[in-house]
Amino acid sequence: MGNTSNAGALPAKAIGFAEYGGTDVLRSIEVEVPAPGPGQVRIAVRAAGVNPLDHKVRSGALTGLFPVTLPAVVGYEVAGVVESVGAGVTEWRPGDEVLGAVHGGGYAQYAVAEADRLVRKPAALGWARAAAIPVAAETAWRSLDLLGAESGHTLLVHGAAGGVGTLLLQFARARGIRVIGTASETNHAYLRELGALPVAYGEGLAERVRAAAPGGVDRVLDAAGAGLLPLSVELAGDAEHVLTIADWQGAEQHGVRFTGGEATATYDRPALNGALDLFEAGDLTLPLHRELPLAEAAEAQAESARGHLRGKIVLIVP
Ligand SMILES: NC(=O)c1ccc[n+]([C@@H]2O[C@H](COP(=O)([O-])OP(=O)(O)OC[C@H]3O[C@@H](n4cnc5c(N)ncnc54)[C@H](OP(=O)(O)O)[C@@H]3O)[C@@H](O)[C@H]2O)c1
Repeated sequence: MGNTSNAGALPAKAIGFAEYGGTDVLRSIEVEVPAPGPGQVRIAVRAAGVNPLDHKVRSGALTGLFPVTLPAVVGYEVAGVVESVGAGVTEWRPGDEVLGAVHGGGYAQYAVAEADRLVRKPAALGWARAAAIPVAAETAWRSLDLLGAESGHTLLVHGAAGGVGTLLLQFARARGIRVIGTASETNHAYLRELGALPVAYGEGLAERVRAAAPGGVDRVLDAAGAGLLPLSVELAGDAEHVLTIADWQGAEQHGVRFTGGEATATYDRPALNGALDLFEAGDLTLPLHRELPLAEAAEAQAESARGHLRGKIVLIVP
């Protein structure tokens, strides 16, 4: 039987917004402690990862693709302690330390998660780094699978130094995929550390990619959303070999697949376990671009929107 003590009772602190707009619509608000439904657990959040999705949802840019009910609390990945479990949950019990994706509500003291989307947090993995893993890992794993990227392939990744790119490069290296990654010059040494060949984006990109891969590229992942789909199709030789996670409008226009917004839960566990395997082997690189208190969520989103991250931004929940 589920233990839902405190549910709906004590107010909990969160950062939310009642209207779409700039970072100034974000407010400290009080919400009810959420009750876990069947198959769910309530987590006392210790850290919440910040993703570009958060500011895109807040600004109203994604109302067509990713609708939310206002007032809304964003935040799609957390690390924390299981506090209570809903009906039918046998895998977790109060006190378990976990990380995983949530359907929003992560910028808060408490969040509800589907029990089967979580994995156990290794004791040696800090809260902030744990919260930085779920979305990037799942997206990276899904992208490699949907692209059909295989050992021996050359994969071009636009926007390789961000959260998704950071994990994708490591998963790709483990699978024997050769990666050419685009980033600004300041991130080139970082991409090399992750086993990729860096190239600068901007004018002349096609020539630089051809020079780096005289045999051509087999697959392209667009994680930059910077109008690169026609060029990507040209380089890959086939729109089927290109995937974007960042340009859903361009995808429609250029006959390229977009992934995101659909049910992605099937990839969570393999992706999280893949990242934790790297951690256990001492091989996980996941820098925290910034670590801020929950109260500074507006600054975190502003930095995320500027779009030049190395690794991830994480909010620490008091
Ligand atoms: N569809 C999905 O399921 C899904 C899931 C997760 C994320 N996403 C989307 O995927 C994108 C990447 O996410 P993320 O979390 O990795 O973002 P992020 O951590 O904010 O990283 C963005 C990266 O893009 C690079 N960049 C900026 N302008 C660029 C350009 N013109 N060409 C190439 N790279 C450029 C930056 O590198 P430099 O500093 O070196 O410029 C930065 O490292 C975002 O648009 C996000 O919304 C989609």
